[in-house]
Amino acid sequence: MSTEASLKAETPPPPQHVAIIMDGNGRWAKARGLPRVAGHQRGVDALRGVVEAGQEMGIDYLTLYAFSSENWKRPPSEVDDLMGLLRLYLRRELRELHRNGVRIRFIGEWRRLAADIVKLIEDAERTTADNTGLTLVIAVNYGSHSEIVEASRQIAVAVSDGRMSADDIDETTFAAHLHTDGIPDPDLVIRTSGEQRLSNFLLWQACYAELVFMNVLWPDFNKRSLEQAVDEYHRRERRYGATSG
Ligand code: FPP
Repeated sequence: MSTEASLKAETPPPPQHVAIIMDGNGRWAKARGLPRVAGHQRGVDALRGVVEAGQEMGIDYLTLYAFSSENWKRPPSEVDDLMGLLRLYLRRELRELHRNGVRIRFIGEWRRLAADIVKLIEDAERTTADNTGLTLVIAVNYGSHSEIVEASRQIAVAVSDGRMSADDIDETTFAAHLHTDGIPDPDLVIRTSGEQRLSNFLLWQACYAELVFMNVLWPDFNKRSLEQAVDEYHRRERRYGATSG
């Protein structure tokens, strides 16, 4: 076997689904005496790099927490800046993402955003729906608690209408009512900036995910950082509640 072939044989496959809590934009900006929006702008650059890196590494699903349902509590000007960046990202980058075979999905209550953003999101999902490369899942106005409550409500209505019986409710039917229907659970959840919390992100879906907390601030996160997180993931033994062999 050639050295290259043997190296390839030794390299474990990448996690199928990596989800990232992109944290630390504000601190990155503050450390440089810049306004917070500058941190978010550099955060978009990091996001672009990570999508490319994910494709190169053969990751199938990459979920990024862009705006949580709690982020509305930020000053209106910062909310406007974040919405503006989302608009710009979708307007400027859809063509390139589509050319690279990226499929785009949004999770969260994104239909409640400004009408022009809703249109951009619908267009991005529709345009890329048949792509077979990396699936980029962007969480906007997302919160796990409300996602789980809404799934429960939909199931309760289906049972009371007689479309479903209470006996039909199991983990599979429940998961099918979440925003992530059709998306495999994340294998690896990364949070940057040294904070060690899930902050209402994929609480159902991350039940067996490896959690990797990194000290890097999001604008500084790059392909090497993603590789480090994946290396850490590979060092851990995933047992799904079973004993080790
Ligand atoms: C957390 O940093 C980051 C966010 C709340 C937003 C993440 C958004 C982006 C990377 C850009 C917008 C996304 C798209 C899809 C265009 P923080 O502000 O909480 O940082 P801090 O904790 O240091 O203050």
